[in-house]
Amino acid sequence: MSPFLLTRTLPEDATGAALREDVLKGLTSTPRSLPPKWFYDARGSELFDQITELPEYYPTRAEREILVDRAGEIAAATGARTLVELGSGSSRKTRHLLDALTGLDTYVPVDVSGSALTRAGEAIAAERPGLGVHALIADFTGGLALPDTPGPRLLAFLGGTIGNLLPAERAAFLASARSLLSPGDTLLLGTDLVKDERVLVAAYDDAAGVTAAFNKNVLAVVNRELGADFDPDAFAHVALWDAGSEWIEMRLRALAAQTVKVPALDLAVDFAAGEELRTEVSAKFRRDGVRAELAAAGLELAHWWTDREGRFALSLSVAR
Ligand code: SAH
Ligand code: AVI
Repeated sequence: MSPFLLTRTLPEDATGAALREDVLKGLTSTPRSLPPKWFYDARGSELFDQITELPEYYPTRAEREILVDRAGEIAAATGARTLVELGSGSSRKTRHLLDALTGLDTYVPVDVSGSALTRAGEAIAAERPGLGVHALIADFTGGLALPDTPGPRLLAFLGGTIGNLLPAERAAFLASARSLLSPGDTLLLGTDLVKDERVLVAAYDDAAGVTAAFNKNVLAVVNRELGADFDPDAFAHVALWDAGSEWIEMRLRALAAQTVKVPALDLAVDFAAGEELRTEVSAKFRRDGVRAELAAAGLELAHWWTDREGRFALSLSVAR
């Protein structure tokens, strides 16, 4: 069996300063918001995996189609010996890349979800003798320190997760991603594309209610970790398309006026009936915008591949 190493750079429980800070800031600002990274405890990661199988949620299938078609080209263009994957989750689609990258020495999956990371990392290490797997429990927005592994390095950020960052966060993220690369190293980036509003909204408001459960899971995380008393049934799942910003917004709408207590923060939050808490943006992209954002971070777009229906894009860019 090949070596599996797990390094934790985040506190063991989520009650660390980061969650307290985010919840305090988000619940006391107008409009109220919570950052999406707190969806992903073990239950949230499981719900996300269920989302990827839903008939309405096309991004995973579309990106998988591109990976299946293009993995050989990606391997030839990058010659990667180290694959670092940010927000790797179940690493399911990544297997197509791992199969194609025949010269790969080390795979470094990075995620805030220790449960998803351990399950995926252990399985991949067991299946692929000779491949080093060094998993990192870390926040990809917060100055990553990567293990010293051989280049060329390919950094993968799949699933369209970059769309869950706000524009300023995205620019900071791409600059810090670039700083992890040497000239000639590459970034493989998955971006969901702008399309018909009905298709987009359905993908975030599925008939089976799995996305609603995923959305409300953030309340369960805050309840468990900070002793809060959110009643998930007192909030409705909302998914809407913001045409100006070209993003889907997920929100939780208070069904009635209520006060939520967060003892760990010594905080009581009054929600008016109908008041909304923003829990996620999921930006949708166009080729020229992606090219420009990459260029601003010192990355030159080299390839742009879409699925046959043109719903989702994978880009490969080179560090200058
Ligand atoms: N890449 C996978 C999973 C996407 S879901 C796919 O394409 O299907 C988003 C993943 O990013 C989750 O596993 C979540 O735990 C992780 N994540 C979200 N915010 C993060 C952050 N700030 N730092 C590290 N991982 C994060
Ligand atoms: C992880 N991320 C790209 C997903 C998305 O589509 O924005 C998270 C998600 N939110 C609701 N459904 C899926």
